[in-house]
Amino acid sequence: MKPMTADFRSDTVTRPTEGMLRAMAAAPVGDDVLGDDPTVQRLESVLAERFGIEAGLFCPSGTMTNQIAVNVHTRPGDELICSKLAHVYNYEGGGLAFNSGVQVRVGGDNYGRLSATDAEALLQPMDNVHAAPTRLVVAENTSNKGGGTTLGIQSLRELGAFARQHNLGYHLDGARLFNALVADREQPEDYGRLFDSISICLSKGLGAPVGSVLLGSADFIREGRRIRKRFGGGMRQAGYLAAAGLYALDHHVERLAEDHDRAASLATYMAQLPYVAEIKPAATNMLLFRLQDGFNGSELLTHLSALGIQLIAMDRHWLRAVLHYDVGDAEVQRLSDGLASWAI
Ligand SMILES: Cc1ncc(COP(=O)(O)O)c(C=O)c1O
Repeated sequence: MKPMTADFRSDTVTRPTEGMLRAMAAAPVGDDVLGDDPTVQRLESVLAERFGIEAGLFCPSGTMTNQIAVNVHTRPGDELICSKLAHVYNYEGGGLAFNSGVQVRVGGDNYGRLSATDAEALLQPMDNVHAAPTRLVVAENTSNKGGGTTLGIQSLRELGAFARQHNLGYHLDGARLFNALVADREQPEDYGRLFDSISICLSKGLGAPVGSVLLGSADFIREGRRIRKRFGGGMRQAGYLAAAGLYALDHHVERLAEDHDRAASLATYMAQLPYVAEIKPAATNMLLFRLQDGFNGSELLTHLSALGIQLIAMDRHWLRAVLHYDVGDAEVQRLSDGLASWAI
């Protein structure tokens, strides 16, 4: 059942549908830490096959899949390169330093894009003992803090060629990779060929309540499984959760296009509001916007909240609205009306 509030804070707020709940309740389960949960195994192999990668590892969260990947790719004292907007750098609780002892060098633009040229400028000289060795490049598609921007397979190939040339690992934070695949009409196998590891979230636009899968070579995932245990992410009858992920992959991928369409029309509407200064591209299911000087974002959030509409502040300047399957045309209309009734 849809909640009464129109909740645009994130695509993580969705509730499982009845069909998903039925699939969860019917799932055969085992003990996944002991390696015999058939539904978890099926989810891992379905995703691995879809991307043409050897193996998968089901984890509680996208933070954990990213952190495990970094931990397997690096050693303490190493350095990684990513966008200045990357989730691994901005929103994982300092996990890169805490879990793996790595430091970070960031660059790229305000949409989360990091080109091969940007990355080249961040590479440490390998023959200089003063420098931390660069070991890993992390890309994020779509970019969350970049406003749901898609990076495009071509620029990711160029970044991948840079990584190969310098013998660096190449990880993709694909929390919303299915949004990118749908928006840019790309094929999962092209991503599987390109990256050493990919993290995919089932609990974002795909609408499962919990769970992310890390994909990589059989050796990489074997080591990742050990790290998952070390991080406390081994789950027992996790098949009930994996079943929600399998259901989402069968039923919720094509519909992401509806979220993208709603985000695009909301962006068109918002562009003509007198107090909106800038909107990030709204290429997928997100809309990041900044207010004109003199308008207070937290007052706008309070105004909307009084109308039962929730948005989120990304920082002091940027507000965010995210489209997902629990906000349809009626909720978008409520948001449009709420925005129109402010500051008039
Ligand atoms: C791009 C990106 N990566 C990783 C994550 C982490 O996912 P989780 O909240 O499941 O830890 C998020 C969460 O929103 C995200 O947007």
